[in-house]
Amino acid sequence: MSAGSAAQAPKRLTCPQLRAMKGATKIVAITAYDAVSGKLVDSIADLVLVGDSLGPNVLGYDSTIPVTLDEMIAAGRAVSRGSQRALLVGDLPFGTYQASPEDAVRSSARFIKEAGMQAVKLEGGAERAGAIAAVVDAGIPVVAHIGLLPQSVHAMGGYRVQGKTEQGARDLLDDAKAVASAGAFALVLEGIPDSVAAAITSAVDIPTIGIGAGAACDGQILVFTDVMGLNFGHLPKFVRPYANLREVAAEGLAKYRDDVRSGGFPGSAESYGG
Ligand code: KIV
Repeated sequence: MSAGSAAQAPKRLTCPQLRAMKGATKIVAITAYDAVSGKLVDSIADLVLVGDSLGPNVLGYDSTIPVTLDEMIAAGRAVSRGSQRALLVGDLPFGTYQASPEDAVRSSARFIKEAGMQAVKLEGGAERAGAIAAVVDAGIPVVAHIGLLPQSVHAMGGYRVQGKTEQGARDLLDDAKAVASAGAFALVLEGIPDSVAAAITSAVDIPTIGIGAGAACDGQILVFTDVMGLNFGHLPKFVRPYANLREVAAEGLAKYRDDVRSGGFPGSAESYGG
């Protein structure tokens, strides 16, 4: 089949298009973990992250650390089947990119080939510049992620806001410049003071996407289950739940139980008769 006669692939936002949104349109980003959440967010999101927050939010792990690349790839495949237009980014899980730039390239290539992602995200600043450059060199776009790094929870001594001291803020600015120079096309800023996020946003020419980093970022990202009110644990200060699906689900499930117990379900409308 020639390129001209190939079936038209769904038109997704591209990495260069997302990058060009800096300074023009605020970027709307959110996580998704399966075909259902992928479908639900597709019409509102510019960027959908198949985040390793899959671990605590869907798989029942107590952090992102146990998540495997195979689990992320299965989730990524499901999200890409559910969505059509958003830019899809796969989150490299802990232990799949830190040891060497070669590991980073191998893991990223699996995400692109097997899960249909357009780009990958990895955590870390200047210390990950080599890995970012290698992945970009392999033709795979990278979103960097600095500030509060959930995969480094043990090193940070908990999920703590970063960059609160003058030195910490300077380090974050250096990290942002390092990952941008290494070739990242966007940068997630997590859990840092608004003023530091604002300084980083004006210092780099790639879009910053904040989560707990204030309003000056070029865009915002939140976790799907937090936005939908499906969080069963601690809700961070930076989350605004826009729906309460937990309450809606509990009400619906209680009605189902009551109807089954009372014989009210199924009725004639849900039966084949005869
Ligand atoms: O995995 C995730 O959900 C993330 C976002 C918090 C940016 O990395």
